Amino acid sequence: MKPWLRKILGGSVGRPVPLHEIRRSFDEAAGDEEHFPSTIDPRIYHVQLILEYFGDLSGKRILDVGCGKGRFARVLQERCPAARIAALDLSEAMLRFVPAPIGVCSGTMTSLPFASASFDCVYATESLEHAVGISTAVGEMCRVLKPGGKLVIIDKNAEHWGRLKTPEWEKWFRREELEKLLKRDCRQVSSRFISYWEDVEPDGLFLAWLAQK
Ligand SMILES: C[S@@+](CC[C@H](N)C(=O)[O-])C[C@H]1O[C@@H](n2cnc3c(N)ncnc32)[C@H](O)[C@@H]1O
Repeated sequence: MKPWLRKILGGSVGRPVPLHEIRRSFDEAAGDEEHFPSTIDPRIYHVQLILEYFGDLSGKRILDVGCGKGRFARVLQERCPAARIAALDLSEAMLRFVPAPIGVCSGTMTSLPFASASFDCVYATESLEHAVGISTAVGEMCRVLKPGGKLVIIDKNAEHWGRLKTPEWEKWFRREELEKLLKRDCRQVSSRFISYWEDVEPDGLFLAWLAQK
């Protein structure tokens, strides 16, 4: 496929990549601590935004969707030991890094193995871009959210497609594209550009979508 056509379409446009191939790729990537770290500096704005938007986490049930090694869940759990955090990922090799008492769960975000309306807060950081079934995955995150519950998705902007090397199944998003999907189930939906540091002007690569059911 011509690079210019792929750029317009924004990824995920070649042959359909089977889930087991994506899982195998991330199982292998789990050994690469440099590019798939198990910790994150809690001052990074992606973390701060999630903490600020969710507010007090005491006693709340929280789900990290496509958690990787659980670097975000780790910070949330440290900040609030009384939070009940579950972390789901396709790759069991990634999940081995997630520390207790975070509850780990292996599965796909396109069919979350949780009851409807069972979480107060749900978030997905740089994982929806790998889901392939994007509309289904967003629907699943909304389904498991309680009425009034909050959802954060942090991912990359389709307008910057091509800036980084990406696997063939990856897809980036336009603001309005995910807003539209979230509005099917959530009453308050917004999005904004973010950067790693609060005092650094966003360069347009990262977007955060915030929604309340
Ligand atoms: C780039 S990593 C991000 C991990 C983590 N959210 C973070 O920010 O550190 C993407 C993760 O999404 C997971 N993933 C990919 N497709 C998935 C799917 N269909 N369901 C659940 N997790 C998936 C991968 O295994 C990988 O751990």
